[in-house]
Amino acid sequence: MKNLVERIRELKKKKNAIILAHSYQNIEIDEVADFVGDSLYLSQMAKATEADIIVFAGVYFMAQTAKIISPEKKVLLPNLNAGCLMADMINLHQMMDFKKSHPNIPVVCYINSTAEVKAECDICCTSSNALEIVKSLNSPKVLFVPDANLGKWVESKLEGVEVITYDGNCPVHNNITITDIETARVKYPDAKILIHPECKPEVSSLGDYIGSTSGIIDYVKNSSDKKFVIVTEKGVYDRLRRDYPDKEFVLIRDNMLCESMKLTTLEEILHSLEYEVNEITLDENVRRLSAGCIERMLKVSR
Ligand code: 13P
Ligand code: SF4
Repeated sequence: MKNLVERIRELKKKKNAIILAHSYQNIEIDEVADFVGDSLYLSQMAKATEADIIVFAGVYFMAQTAKIISPEKKVLLPNLNAGCLMADMINLHQMMDFKKSHPNIPVVCYINSTAEVKAECDICCTSSNALEIVKSLNSPKVLFVPDANLGKWVESKLEGVEVITYDGNCPVHNNITITDIETARVKYPDAKILIHPECKPEVSSLGDYIGSTSGIIDYVKNSSDKKFVIVTEKGVYDRLRRDYPDKEFVLIRDNMLCESMKLTTLEEILHSLEYEVNEITLDENVRRLSAGCIERMLKVSR
């Protein structure tokens, strides 16, 4: 009897499919994944691939993004309950109200949002290119949805740009406090503290490095330091421990878990690929409009 991993690998070959996995995903999924990384990298891979099927081991907005930019491909999300708490904080009506109360200002939309919301925005961004994208607009005022923390962090880095933020956040990151970081500094004085910008800006500003999940992983890769405090979801910590056994890692809190990401299992990946179920579909008008938002980002940030 073949094991799950072998069966998934065989099916991928037979069906010309690839598996994209976010760095927060359950680590055993890396065994079948073709690409593992952050939101920007995975959307670039979704666009570049010549596969017929993309199985997205991530959350809903990620699979939806893959479908938006690669409409001719079949995109499957192994567990349809894998949502994103932040993306769910803004719907189309809330988006329209936000724009109405701040007219004639360009709107940047974090990739953690639905296609309907993206369709109403000028340009998309991810945590690894948010600064570059806001800068590229050359506007003294910018609206930013849905992550207030990322938006305010960008504002703190740019002179002369007001970033007007929607009141959304990621509860996994938003819960981290200044005290958590100060305590870690005292407890691990020789460690570098690496923070995801979805944390509150007053928290991020205390880090030695602030960046996306891939940014954090690359920082460790290129650093001669030996000890790191990881301030993002546990999947990043798990992969760092696996890949750098000679370095030491501390997760800022035990409960840094994105429950949605952890819903996906190898069994579900096999099931969705075998029967081609849990396919992402989109209204064509929404898809076209949201594609413009993402394509503009990919032009600025290759
Ligand atoms: P990345 O841009 O680092 O992939 O972050 C996505 C995300 O959902 C973080 O919570
Ligand atoms: Fe969404 Fe937060 Fe999970 Fe990232 S960690 S996918 S922002 S709920």
